[in-house]
Amino acid sequence: MVHPGGTPPLMRAARLGRGLRLGLLAALVAGSSALAARPYRGGVVATAHPAASEAALAMLNRGGNAVDAAIAAAFTLAVVDPTHTGLGGGGFALLYDVRSRTTRALDFREMAPAGAGPTMYVRNGRLDPLLATDGALAVAVPGAVAGYFDALSRAGTLKPAVVIAPAIRAARRGVVVTPMYQRLAARRLDCLRANHEATRIFLRPNAAGVADVPPLGTLISQPQLAATLETLAKEGPSTFYRGKLARSIASAIQKLGGIVTVDDLAGYHVIAREPLRGSYRGYPIATMPPPSAGGLTLLQVLGMAELLQPSGDVYGEPESLHIYVEALRRAFADRAKYVGDPDFADVPVAQLTSSAHLRELLRNFDPRRATPLAELLPQANAAPGTLAGEKHTTHLSVIDRWGNAVALTTTINDAFGSCVVAPGTGILLNNQMDDFASSPGQPNLYGLVMGEANAIAPGKRPVSSMAPTIVFQKEDQARALLVTGAAGGPTIPSSVLQVAMHLMDHGFDLTSAVAHGRLHHQLLPDELRVEPHAYDPATLKALAAKGHQLEQREPWGDAQAVMEDPRTGLRYGASDPRNEGAAVGQD
Ligand code: DON
Repeated sequence: MVHPGGTPPLMRAARLGRGLRLGLLAALVAGSSALAARPYRGGVVATAHPAASEAALAMLNRGGNAVDAAIAAAFTLAVVDPTHTGLGGGGFALLYDVRSRTTRALDFREMAPAGAGPTMYVRNGRLDPLLATDGALAVAVPGAVAGYFDALSRAGTLKPAVVIAPAIRAARRGVVVTPMYQRLAARRLDCLRANHEATRIFLRPNAAGVADVPPLGTLISQPQLAATLETLAKEGPSTFYRGKLARSIASAIQKLGGIVTVDDLAGYHVIAREPLRGSYRGYPIATMPPPSAGGLTLLQVLGMAELLQPSGDVYGEPESLHIYVEALRRAFADRAKYVGDPDFADVPVAQLTSSAHLRELLRNFDPRRATPLAELLPQANAAPGTLAGEKHTTHLSVIDRWGNAVALTTTINDAFGSCVVAPGTGILLNNQMDDFASSPGQPNLYGLVMGEANAIAPGKRPVSSMAPTIVFQKEDQARALLVTGAAGGPTIPSSVLQVAMHLMDHGFDLTSAVAHGRLHHQLLPDELRVEPHAYDPATLKALAAKGHQLEQREPWGDAQAVMEDPRTGLRYGASDPRNEGAAVGQD
């Protein structure tokens, strides 16, 4: 299954420029298998930023486990990757403990404040979508800090002060403005300019003296964030949820017209959930349950692929790709119909992943043509997803030398979240309220259409696409084979699916599985998104001939994956060559 080459590891490519990395990506896509990750005997980590990967590796080298490493990386990413993640966000993690053979799913997703309700974004009788994305009313109660501390106290071995130290150093040292930072700051310029603190920290005056996108290479240091992290390292999460930080956060939000209160922060709680479990061709899988829809989509697509192709998915064959795409469309229809916070809405996950239900979904499957949208989701309200190519979320994957594993995905939602920074804290707050269906049936930022199950209610968690996932080995089901996840909004489940299927079905090495050109469909808009050079023109023509509306888009998503080779026990990491991350490990 793994074909480690002796040629330069793609990991090194992570340190090269974007153009060169995309060149490497094109080479891989064109069929070159010369690039393969190097093997490690010890632990292995893949994250979206080299500094976070190094922080995780430092924990492993101190004798820490996968949880210590993952949380060190998560805190560091909150500093070095402010466009994608932060202490003001939330997320999910799967923690696999090899000794007890148990996987826990930690839900530290944001919660709607007590004052939230279905009409909170309606002004003068009309929905104002900007209120759910830009500024203080878009902020949901953050869960990241609670989640990271919960993971550490549940399963970590090192002291929080040790685990947080690399993040503190990074905040003092500063983060360098990259082309990606510039792109995202340019898109969020109005939002950032509207907040005094965000302007001061993340923008720089241009020649005319107006706050603007900083020049390439500008050092963004965050001394206040460093001080906040120092406080957390000393006092733990209580200051964030009940102490001084809580008061600063709530008052900043309220001054700017938001509704998060100190009581909302005090009421925040992490939920340890049972993971969603399934299997694919004998590989056991653990993934994130609702309020993630990503894990459900993953299991439904794999289930449908297995039903329709009992002898396996064939790489690059239009028939197999058609099945994958049609399965995705059906899974996204179910997402729109059924998924919400399970503490508020009954989400029948067992039934939705049962083969009886999958067979029912496939009742109108036609191998020759794409099923018309109206047959999959009657009265669908199609609209273009504006953010298809972006990825303002971060995923990290770790396997330690013992075989413990962590898959963690976390986000402040859109780039720079709501653009609200609580003064004096350096904490950039999320705009996760946009992941609710603020108007059921109407598309959100990502063009996603969601239903009543995901309507806004006090204390509720919005549906997410984030899908941290662990695939276990067939031979020894106590060992993780693949630990993965991705950034990229609704493209997350399709990115994770393709990485996993390339590994399980197509015999790819991990580097190629992560790098390979992607196909994405989310039912609405009814288009099949294709990365440049993902498949050869004849294959794409065959898909178009079946009635799929092909749309070529810039490369999207950001997958981070690590694996253990069942034959040798050696471990590999792969960081998405589309972005600026790195995979590292212990020899
Ligand atoms: O939880 C979710 O599904 C979204 N808030 C993730 C946002 C994201 O990945 C942004 N990238 N396009």
